[in-house]
Amino acid sequence: MNTVTLPDGPSLPRFVQGGIAIVAPLWMMRRLHGRYGSAFKINVPIFGDAVVISDPAEVKQLFMTSPEIADILDLNLGLVLGPNSFFAISDDAHRKQRKLLTPPFHGRRLRAYEAIIEQEAVREMADWPEGSEFATLGPMMRITLNAILRAVFGAQDAELDELRTLLPAMVKLGSRLVALPIPRTDLGRWSPWGRAHAYRRQYDAIIDRMIAAARQDPRLDERDDVLALMLQSRYDDGSAMSREEISDQLLTLLTAGHETTSTTLAWAVERLRRHPIMLRRLADEADAGGSQLREATILEVQRVRPVIDGTLRKVRAPSLRLGRWTLPQGQVILVSIYLIHRDETLFPDAGRFRPDRFVDSRPDTYQWIPFGGGARRCIGAAFAQMEMNIVLRTLFRDFTLEPTRERGERWHSRGVAYCPAQGGRAVVHRRSPATGDRVHAAAVRSADGQES
Ligand code: HEM
Repeated sequence: MNTVTLPDGPSLPRFVQGGIAIVAPLWMMRRLHGRYGSAFKINVPIFGDAVVISDPAEVKQLFMTSPEIADILDLNLGLVLGPNSFFAISDDAHRKQRKLLTPPFHGRRLRAYEAIIEQEAVREMADWPEGSEFATLGPMMRITLNAILRAVFGAQDAELDELRTLLPAMVKLGSRLVALPIPRTDLGRWSPWGRAHAYRRQYDAIIDRMIAAARQDPRLDERDDVLALMLQSRYDDGSAMSREEISDQLLTLLTAGHETTSTTLAWAVERLRRHPIMLRRLADEADAGGSQLREATILEVQRVRPVIDGTLRKVRAPSLRLGRWTLPQGQVILVSIYLIHRDETLFPDAGRFRPDRFVDSRPDTYQWIPFGGGARRCIGAAFAQMEMNIVLRTLFRDFTLEPTRERGERWHSRGVAYCPAQGGRAVVHRRSPATGDRVHAAAVRSADGQES
């Protein structure tokens, strides 16, 4: 039996550490990192005792460790999203679902979704006010919701409208319940859990109708949406996904993919308005039909503003030797995405927003980790990057974004993801196709060379 060796950490009581983690989670991470280095222990409600790591070698080792040895920590996600959700399954069930659902999010399939995303971006941006400030988070949320409903759920007409109304409320309630203790008794239909069950019944009824319609669709095999692919896909033993699996996984894909992508887009607007030279270069690139700088910009936005600040694992084996530590069974580990992305040894001048750092070099998958890593790495990463690319391309093509000298927006936790506290405020001007007028030169000159 290996002797347990754990990093140090503050000895403050759990409720005090929990209070700080709620009020100032990122400040807490920076402080503890400054005091204890790249590994420390925290003790907070919900996870209990957790070891926080951000040393690149330890992070890499953990991500490469087999899920039989360390896997995700299931909070209440199985109850909220269903027992077949990615966030509730492990081992063979997880492997089988990954194998079946990875192809729809890669390669040729992705290209089929580009047109849908561009249509949704154009539709949403048609109502953007010119010359007056507005928060982009709401519009970005609608773009990503509609994109997932069409590309992933294959929803149209009545079902599209119903899901568009139902899902934001359902997901919002669900993300609160994830962290709450599960009641032992039924608290009635007006309780949060009662409301969640009612939403779920409504949702399942819509999905049942969509599955029935898809099964009748003579052109099902020509469809590109993920629901159609799920209905046609087969496990190695020839069996099909069950109705419950399809329903839980669609909800999981939406919950995991909608708010994360829209908050990152709102951060892109927030960062770029404070970097006018980048704005100008991105507009030039979009005009010339290029995408290299835009792709690098998305990588850099995700580095400096990772909307998910950490990902959790739990030791399943009797013990785990992880770098300098020997962790006991049951030990919760939090990989701090936030801290590793600020590491000067990995990203020189880490505090500065410098998309050029990724222009000629792709980031290392174990150091640039906004999508987590290993067997649990985000299955929608390529979809999200394609989606952000198309939305920003549409934005630069159709609008100029006015730079600002205002201070950067603070980080605000929405429960699932961090967003800019003011919602990524923008002032835009529709580009005139006649003049190609893009950047307000005076505004650029006055705002150039500010915030890092
Ligand atoms: C910018 C956008 C996104 C960010 C920052 C993000 C981030 C993450 C992170 C950090 C994880 C946990 C990984 C780990 O534990 O190592 C994750 C998992 C996951 N994400 Fe994403 N995600 C994004 C978009 C999407 C999209 C668009 C989809 C699908 C449409 C999606 C579906 C999933 C699923 C299903 C998982 C669970 C995978 C598993 O357990 O095997 N995500 N994501």
